[in-house]
Amino acid sequence: MAKYLVQKSGPLSGEVTISGAKNAVLPLMAAGLLAEEQTTIKDVPALRDVNVLMEVMMKLGAEIDMPEEGVLNIHTKEIQTTEADFDLFKKMRASILVMGPLLAREGKARMPLPGGCSIGARPIDLHLKGFRQLGATTEVKDTYVEAVAPEGGLVGGSVYLDFPSVGATENIMMAAVLAQGTTYIENAAEEPEIVDLANFLNKMGARIKGAGTDTIKIEGVEHLKGTVHRVIPDRIETGTFMLAAAITRGEILIKNVVTDHVKPIIAKLRECGVQVELVDEGMYVNGGNKALTATDIKTLPYPGFPTDIQSPFMAFLTTVEGESQVQETVFENRFMHVAELNRMGANIKTDGRSAVIPGGKQLVGSQVIATDLRAGAAMVLAGLVAEGTTEISEIYHIDRGYEKFVEKFRGLGATIIRIED
Ligand code: UD1
Repeated sequence: MAKYLVQKSGPLSGEVTISGAKNAVLPLMAAGLLAEEQTTIKDVPALRDVNVLMEVMMKLGAEIDMPEEGVLNIHTKEIQTTEADFDLFKKMRASILVMGPLLAREGKARMPLPGGCSIGARPIDLHLKGFRQLGATTEVKDTYVEAVAPEGGLVGGSVYLDFPSVGATENIMMAAVLAQGTTYIENAAEEPEIVDLANFLNKMGARIKGAGTDTIKIEGVEHLKGTVHRVIPDRIETGTFMLAAAITRGEILIKNVVTDHVKPIIAKLRECGVQVELVDEGMYVNGGNKALTATDIKTLPYPGFPTDIQSPFMAFLTTVEGESQVQETVFENRFMHVAELNRMGANIKTDGRSAVIPGGKQLVGSQVIATDLRAGAAMVLAGLVAEGTTEISEIYHIDRGYEKFVEKFRGLGATIIRIED
């Protein structure tokens, strides 16, 4: 299996351009199942997750081609089957996002229970609850889940989400766009990726209001048409490179960013003493201006601090002066990177969903595992400041969600190589 070898790399410097957002492009692609006409998505990052979803959708009947790098044409003249492929589905949790579109367009969907990063139980009860509120019946049998719309199709309804789940909000929104009548999603997720999906669907002819707030109103329409749309920049990749500047005490100009989307990361880095300036071309981040100090982090749904940046931020906190605390409230099992950072000498202590990071550590290169996608990025960041060589295995997780990861880091002066086994 492929590995990364990372060497201590001194302050990184230079420019990096952020790719289209993984978590935005996946629901946009799934929404391409809703229209008979062609939809075109631009700034599509080259990622394993994108390829997996393409395969899932092609098996369902979508015709997909990539006329040039970063551009996807999706044309779903007809849905061939409403049953998703088991093996493909197991590779990626986000495959569940085809369920809402299938239910909306064909009145039924049968899916294997989804796979993906093992960062907690990650049930889909809220997705199913939403479908039921639109009149569908749902059944979970062994490893499959099935939903069937009433005769005549889904009908608008009120859905209250017990937790503002990103995936459930997206799936219910996509199910509701073709339903008869009006749907309200309350306690909806407010993430920028939800807004991007609503914008895309509205360009296709949907009538969605309130995306980006906790109440989304969807008035059903008869059909959707094709459109062209550019994906928003990846705020998690942006945060990762902000942390690359911070942890190496380097200076990086980050281009193609929406600074509003990374406000909590900017705030927390500034609290630690990192210089973050918003400039015409994007964002300038300098970690080398002064001594950096500890801070506390609590992950929350947007606009709170993103859970996906928790592990990269923790890697950074091992290097600052003083003790920091990190609380993970979104997922119940997202501290697997702690054992790996401790292997490098971090000495982090956890108690349930809280972690205490002593800070001021000189990490030491070691053999570590990318336990999930973002934890993999955390290991690379740690490797950049650790004495000696850090060998990171199971990097297929990183391939799922970061485009040209090695190239981008090397462009900033990092010593990192990929070894194929
Ligand atoms: C999305 C992101 C992921 C990010 C997460 C939280 C994508 C492709 N992935 O994942 O990178 O870490 O948001 O910001 O966009 N939950 C339930 N029942 C459900 C659904 C979720 O209990 O039906 C729980 C989950 O177990 C978790 C929490 O809700 O504890 C948040 O999950 P959710 O927002 O749904 O995350 P994803 O959409 O899977």
